[in-house]
Amino acid sequence: MSKLNVAVIVGSNRRQSLNRALANALVKLGPDNIAVRFVPIDDLPLFNQDLETPLPESVARFKAEIAAADGLLFVTPEHNRSIPAALKNAVDWGARPYGQNSWTGKPAAIAGTSPGALGAAIAQQHLRHILGSLGAHVMGGEVYIAFKPGLIDADGNIADDGTRKFLQAFIDQFATLLARFAQPQRAAA
Ligand code: FNR
Repeated sequence: MSKLNVAVIVGSNRRQSLNRALANALVKLGPDNIAVRFVPIDDLPLFNQDLETPLPESVARFKAEIAAADGLLFVTPEHNRSIPAALKNAVDWGARPYGQNSWTGKPAAIAGTSPGALGAAIAQQHLRHILGSLGAHVMGGEVYIAFKPGLIDADGNIADDGTRKFLQAFIDQFATLLARFAQPQRAAA
């Protein structure tokens, strides 16, 4: 059976991103039938409707990677109680040009972490709202991880047992959702 392709989008563009570390640890928990690809967002120009025709090469590449994905995993920090500008920029490009919305119909899951107590909860709620308005099917559940030193070990694995079990359940739920979306559509009764 062919693998399901998951595009992973990290909402941070900094090198030492905690959210990228969390994303790497998360994908290690995924089943063998899922192939993941980290889709960069840091090479996208600042969104400008004047640039839509023709699309910049990086934007065309980004939209093609979203189109090819069977599902989307977002792992994002919170910036000033919302999603980082870099991520909003990527979401906006994905939604454009008019009539070529790359997000429509895609199953998606959202996670995130912050050193703060709320674990990027508000950013994740904002992202859920935005993606929902764009027609993505965002999985229920909440993954608000308050980052503590040592949460991810030197090998990039979740060190804390409770958190690992929690994240395993999240990834399993996402894998189930992806499998359901991948099933051939049942003929209308
Ligand atoms: C933050 N940070 C932050 N954290 C939070 O929990 N809520 C917030 O609203 C904000 N706001 C915020 C704004 C800006 C401009 C910066 C740079 C940072 C802290 C943030 O969670 C922390 O820097 C994380 O480490 C960012 O995630 P990455 O880049 O490590 O993945």
